[in-house]
Amino acid sequence: MKVTVVGAGAVGASCAEYIAIKDFASEVVILDIKEGFAEGKAMDLMQTASLNSFDTKITGSTNDYSKTAGSDVCVITSGIPRKPGMTREELIGINAGIVKMVSASLIKHSPDTIIIVVSNPMDTMTYLVHKTTGLPKNRIIGMGGALDSARFKYRLAEALGAPISDVDGMVIGGHSDKGMVPLIGKAVRNSVVVSEFLSEERMEQVVQDTKVGGATLTGLLGTSAWYAPGAAVSAMVQAIACDTKKIFPCSALLAGEFGLNDLAIGVPCVLGANGIEKIVEISLTDAEKAKLAESAEGVKKTNGLLEL
Ligand code: 2OP
Repeated sequence: MKVTVVGAGAVGASCAEYIAIKDFASEVVILDIKEGFAEGKAMDLMQTASLNSFDTKITGSTNDYSKTAGSDVCVITSGIPRKPGMTREELIGINAGIVKMVSASLIKHSPDTIIIVVSNPMDTMTYLVHKTTGLPKNRIIGMGGALDSARFKYRLAEALGAPISDVDGMVIGGHSDKGMVPLIGKAVRNSVVVSEFLSEERMEQVVQDTKVGGATLTGLLGTSAWYAPGAAVSAMVQAIACDTKKIFPCSALLAGEFGLNDLAIGVPCVLGANGIEKIVEISLTDAEKAKLAESAEGVKKTNGLLEL
């Protein structure tokens, strides 16, 4: 299993590190445009191999896409991250051109690859890759919901005073501060719905804290988060590499599912060797359906800024 990670910044490097530590890939190539940067990150990571007991071979390349040839999965993290006070949507002007060029370059050397898009605004960048590459739609996946769900579980555990391993929950919809749809009504603590433990007010606070999870960290860090985004995308890569058929909320191109068309947005997906094996049309309450529809309108509005 060969994985390419484009972008040797904090998210890309964290993704590469988690993939290596999980040791399911034979090779990870990190690529960046900054001279020597990816090579340095790869070498530094390889010097942890004996300490972290992995055999994955990590190499770096300065913008030489031939080194990515034959990649089974390619992760696109390249582009500028947001700064405090910025929305993800404000990144579109610069990141759209980067993502379009990067995806074309990857496919030239790995025509059978599965692409996972991380760059923001992620749902729109994912849609851009669908529209400009022509890859089968099951092989283009946006990473947002896996990260947002991890933050949702963090907030749920905090509210419940429970260990993270005791809670489960899913966030669907757009990967944006306003567009996320944490499915609080379906969240559980060891199979018991959390409404058995939390007041309406506290559940709403969990929802709101989840929706601004990224912005909260950007305010604290001065730049976008990287550990959880890197971990989220590495978990998706692992599901594909190991054909686990696990369900993740992923940004997938919809053609009627949930009553939505011609956009990529976060919905439950079975991930396996073929990428998106299946979009799972779970039952939603009328309120959840309305929130998802509203979120879709927001994503489509951002998509409208693309020059396709
Ligand atoms: C986040 O929410 C980078 O969009 C990513 O942290």
